Amino acid sequence: MDIQVPRINKILTMDPTEGITVQGWVRTKRDAKNFVFLEINDGSSLKGLQVVVDKESEELSETLNAITTGAAIEVKGNLVESLGKGQRVELQGKEVILHGDAPQDYPLQKKRHSFEFLREIAHLRPRTNTIGAVARVRSALSFAVHSFFNERGFVYVHTPIITASDAEGAGEMFQVTTLPLDNPPKKKDGSIDYSKDFFNRQAHLSVSGQLNGEAYAQAMKHIYTFGPTFRAENSNTTRHLAEFWMIEPEMAFCDLAQNMKWAEEFLVYIFQYILDKCPDDMEFFNQWIEKGVIEKLQKVISTPFGHITYTDAIKEMEKAKVDFEFAPSWGIDLQTEHERFLSEQLFGGPVIVTDYPKNIKAFYMKLNDDRETVRGMDVLVPRLGEIIGGSEREARYDVLVDRMQECGIVPEEYRWYLDLRKYGSTPHAGFGLGFARALLYITGVQNIREAIPFPRHAGKADF
Ligand code: 4AD
Ligand code: MG
Repeated sequence: MDIQVPRINKILTMDPTEGITVQGWVRTKRDAKNFVFLEINDGSSLKGLQVVVDKESEELSETLNAITTGAAIEVKGNLVESLGKGQRVELQGKEVILHGDAPQDYPLQKKRHSFEFLREIAHLRPRTNTIGAVARVRSALSFAVHSFFNERGFVYVHTPIITASDAEGAGEMFQVTTLPLDNPPKKKDGSIDYSKDFFNRQAHLSVSGQLNGEAYAQAMKHIYTFGPTFRAENSNTTRHLAEFWMIEPEMAFCDLAQNMKWAEEFLVYIFQYILDKCPDDMEFFNQWIEKGVIEKLQKVISTPFGHITYTDAIKEMEKAKVDFEFAPSWGIDLQTEHERFLSEQLFGGPVIVTDYPKNIKAFYMKLNDDRETVRGMDVLVPRLGEIIGGSEREARYDVLVDRMQECGIVPEEYRWYLDLRKYGSTPHAGFGLGFARALLYITGVQNIREAIPFPRHAGKADF
């Protein structure tokens, strides 16, 4: 088979010409007296190509009869100006090859399907308009991430997926073991003997590449990671996954103020990139998935991000005449309703909340002089809430050891991480953007399970 067969998004921009081949899947088939009309999609664009085939020969009409919605076909013919509405050109099919038919039980017959139903057929759902568009935007967004950092001299670092550290100190990790679960080796005191495990110690799937990223930032100055992360959070929400990709830049010689600038520049860049490069898919989302999503993104791009400390944010919320489900008071972790109030009501745009109480943030965040708050930051956006979390890191050896002990972390197990404070320590900072959360925001889909090809969450790891 020819590897040069043009994709449908290209064909749709071509002028009439002879000898065109198209390969794809049949979205719809309409039978007229002498002709068969097929709409073919090959994933390159939302729009399919209309193919019209004359039922002249018996052989051709036999093939045409066997073609139904969902079939994989290849058509050779001439690209001509279309007389019908809705397309500039169409393919006059002369030869038709049926590569794979699709029996009547093909689940994606032409009608609207609920996202819940489509999740049950996650292997077929990329053939739908919405999930196809999400897949294209997801791919473009990955490219945007790499462009942004590459243009600015960041080194792309692959941090490990299997790790012995709990980067967030939250204990929400999946264990990796080859020990027999029904009869693990035990120590004298009855506890499991992990020295007999594959890595001679307990190991887990990483919740974040940050700690390893810091090591590389302390050599390459500016780095970023972009890879899968895993969290055994049992929260069954529309914005949490158990497996998701995260982008984590880390910058040496960087404080919280500069970190916030990087985060803002980064978000604006990737949003603008998608508006520029995926106009058709964004129009589709704008019309069918979230009315006004384009305007929402344009507003984030054009509004300078607001800034407020956690302490002031709590004061504002206590003052506000709003019936929060969870009453705000100093010390609580911000809930989505609080985050949305801050960005939607108080700032009317994106806002970065900083200097959280140390008790609700990770051990590695730089301790402020008040000894109560840390130099953490969350970027909150209208409708979603937290999209980015980050911080300036604790670069002082002794303070970090104290914080670890306070958080119940054994410093000896993080010796390598402490070394980074011992040898050539710098003020440094970074942040993490959940990739699926960014896609949720950009596409307007309601549930994060639509923003990743094969979602994994509590109770679900099918496909
Ligand atoms: O706020 P988090 O937990 O921060 C970190 O992991 C830091 N190590 C980042 C850093 O400073 N390098 O997670 C970062 C982002 C969140 O803001 C959110 O967008 C996303 O990751 N996120 C999730 N996305 C989907 N499902 C989950 N369960 C998520 N947990 C966090
Ligand atoms: Mg966070």
